[in-house]
Amino acid sequence: MADEISVSAKRQLGYETTDLAMENARAVEAANASFITVHARTKVDGYHYPARWEWLGKINDVLTIPLVANGDIHSVDEFLRCREMSHCENFMWGRDAVIQPDLARQISAVQSGKVVEPMLWHEVVTVIIEMTGLMRAQPTMQDKKVLGRIKQWLAYLKRHYPEAALLFSEIRGMKQLQKADDLLWLNSTIGKELTGYK
Ligand SMILES: Cc1cc2nc3c(=O)[nH]c(=O)nc-3n(C[C@H](O)[C@H](O)[C@H](O)COP(=O)(O)O)c2cc1C
Repeated sequence: MADEISVSAKRQLGYETTDLAMENARAVEAANASFITVHARTKVDGYHYPARWEWLGKINDVLTIPLVANGDIHSVDEFLRCREMSHCENFMWGRDAVIQPDLARQISAVQSGKVVEPMLWHEVVTVIIEMTGLMRAQPTMQDKKVLGRIKQWLAYLKRHYPEAALLFSEIRGMKQLQKADDLLWLNSTIGKELTGYK
């Protein structure tokens, strides 16, 4: 039974330095992890410095378990560069999963030689509305918390969608979820008629 359970680990390159990066990755492998994800920064790097993808390549070359590359994949181009430097086949992204909800779709389209239209603002808002519904269905999620998550997501989305900045500025001071719902609904209708989106 125990060997049916897949256990993996996620690590950074180190705390202050990368001195133990290789040793740590080898330790994860020696402990029989199924795979390892490495965020290619040290803890003190925070998000202040670019991810060090070259370290992923070095680690990947000595491991026999799969390495999942993580850190600073914000676009299709960065994905391609990260793949080249890390020699990885598996990737993970954090911030851009929320900033560009369709990044995986764009990457997978490029890999299969297709062209996809980037997600439009009203489509993103539709996803936020769906997410709001899922959050509300959780018994532990009070309205205040749901509203907080919406604000948090919009703050991320501002980095890619100018419309999010406007919506964020309208919603940030709100205390009632219903009012935010109304604005979300309105935003979900913007541009639909122009694109034929149903
Ligand atoms: C909204 C958000 C949620 C995250 N949740 C987790 C998590 O649950 N577990 C984890 O190991 N890392 C988590 N992270 C960190 C990311 O997985 C990732 O290691 C880090 O953000 C660097 O990748 P990025 O440059 O693609 O953002 C999260 C990051 C963000 C922005």
